[in-house]
Amino acid sequence: MLYLVVGDDVICPFEWILANCPPFLPSGMFIVLLGLFLIGWHKYRQPFHRFVDLTEIGFDQITGSESYKTEHRKRDAINRINRSRIPGRLPPAFPNGWFVILESTDLSKTGVKEVTVLGLNLVAWRGGSGRVYIADAYCPHLGAHLGVGGKVHGECIKCPFHGWSFDGSDGHLAHVPYSESIPEGAKLWMYDATERNGFIYFWYHAEGDQPTWMPPIYSEIHSGQWRLCGISQVLVGCHVQDIIENGFDAGHLSAVHHDLTIWSGTRWEFFKLSWRLAEVSLGTLGESHVANMKCYLRMSLFGKFFTLPATTVTFTQTGPGLLYIVFNMGFGRIIIFGTVTPLEPLCQKTLAAVYTDSPLLKLLAGGLILSVQANQYKRDVTIWNRKTHLKNPILVKEERALKQFRQWFSQFYSKNSQTTYFNKNGSSNPLAF
Ligand code: FES
Ligand SMILES: [Fe+2]
Repeated sequence: MLYLVVGDDVICPFEWILANCPPFLPSGMFIVLLGLFLIGWHKYRQPFHRFVDLTEIGFDQITGSESYKTEHRKRDAINRINRSRIPGRLPPAFPNGWFVILESTDLSKTGVKEVTVLGLNLVAWRGGSGRVYIADAYCPHLGAHLGVGGKVHGECIKCPFHGWSFDGSDGHLAHVPYSESIPEGAKLWMYDATERNGFIYFWYHAEGDQPTWMPPIYSEIHSGQWRLCGISQVLVGCHVQDIIENGFDAGHLSAVHHDLTIWSGTRWEFFKLSWRLAEVSLGTLGESHVANMKCYLRMSLFGKFFTLPATTVTFTQTGPGLLYIVFNMGFGRIIIFGTVTPLEPLCQKTLAAVYTDSPLLKLLAGGLILSVQANQYKRDVTIWNRKTHLKNPILVKEERALKQFRQWFSQFYSKNSQTTYFNKNGSSNPLAF
């Protein structure tokens, strides 16, 4: 039984409720109202999750007409548009680096998941020790998919087809249920995996090289000190480089993100945002895989400029797949941990986890803060889903950071990073989804 401590007294919570019930309310109704309030408050404080599919943003003009009413026809129309917008050779589809593939909560103890990223079919499992393993999904015996019916025993994964077990430590075949012999070379191809900040990461390298750097640990996220407002996942139809390059494209900030949208559709035109680039550093401080950009953000209400104390926004890109944005608002911070994980050459899974350390913002619903972020992001996705990738864009001198960015990003491609060629009809490698 739960008891309340009020001053020197220890009392039963029901007694407390009955004693404190307002005189104009019957005590039963008071308990119901209190219960509803507590349920509502609990819901209000929960992180908000949203998922947006590839076809949902940027295709209104095509799909608005009567002739594209059904889902099937809509996808056909979008596929036709996609095939015609990116003819020619693109940069390699899959850069080398760490990529987020799952949230930690997706994989319970001894849980198994199939994962399809960077054109690979993978299986992820959590051993009895809590450690996460990532391997090629196909059993080297007769090719069963280990992520479909595979079971975890200790640190091993057991194939659903004939019950062979593979040890996650290095992928070796540990047990064949009906034979004493262990065939030489029977081994599961393992990938480097790590888990931090509440996410599971996988290392991809076209040459099969070992990791040369690790994803950063953000102690405030890792420890749960910052409140998670929510996670937004959006599938985007463009080349991976276009999304990351956007983080260093200061010129687009004032053009695309110049006002607020709180709820979908309604722009708060009276509340203007204006951005100024302060500095860009690419691969400095001995960490060639890290790039930083800092901007100042000014806000105006009905045309009058005001700046909240020390409103700076810093972008830190770590490798090709991890972005960390901090909005320092003076009275607190909003932090966006963003990830990009290529699924196919022109299909990227993007994720934004939004946190805050501000006591004021912590009082707001996570859904509200996430909604502001999601509406700004939607503006970017509307452009990405329809843009083409230009190998030689025409830039002005103020955009020299973009040129430097492309040079910096090229470090994530290596000899065997495969380029993708799309012909005008898309026949060699259709962009269909
Ligand atoms: S296919 Fe996996 S044990 Fe036979
Ligand atoms: Fe943007």
